[in-house]
Amino acid sequence: MNILVIHGPNLGLLGKREPEIYGSRTLDDINALLSEEAAGREDVSLEFFQSDSEGGIVGAIQGALGRIDGILINPAAYTHTSVAIRDAILSVGIPTVEVHISNIHKREEFRHTSFVSPVAEGVVSGFGPESYLLGMRGLVGHLVKGK
Ligand code: DQA
Repeated sequence: MNILVIHGPNLGLLGKREPEIYGSRTLDDINALLSEEAAGREDVSLEFFQSDSEGGIVGAIQGALGRIDGILINPAAYTHTSVAIRDAILSVGIPTVEVHISNIHKREEFRHTSFVSPVAEGVVSGFGPESYLLGMRGLVGHLVKGK
């Protein structure tokens, strides 16, 4: 199973960015956490992508077609605004799990809406970097069931 992990805007600053919300771990730490988990399964291989631009993320999703079995995505701020990312996920038809470090429903009202959730297989939000791990386990379980 080839899984593409997509990190949206400002997540490259994790570790420095609002640590009271997002914690002290960096994006490299999160990718290492996922790589460690994947190393325990010989049937899972990971690819990582980060972009601050909506077009970059849409391009990565389109580029996954025919190559990638599942997408794990933290769309960050684009969660709440992007019809383009939602449409890209629908266009490629690749099972996608949405993750957030913070619990978006516990925060400002504008974060309560996700354009991505209705096209995702599942959503994990609020467990810090562990959200990614839980999301990946859910995605792998979903893909295994579909095989
Ligand atoms: C986030 C939550 C979003 O509302 C925010 O814009 C982010 C990060 C999270 O992981 O908690 O950039 O997706």
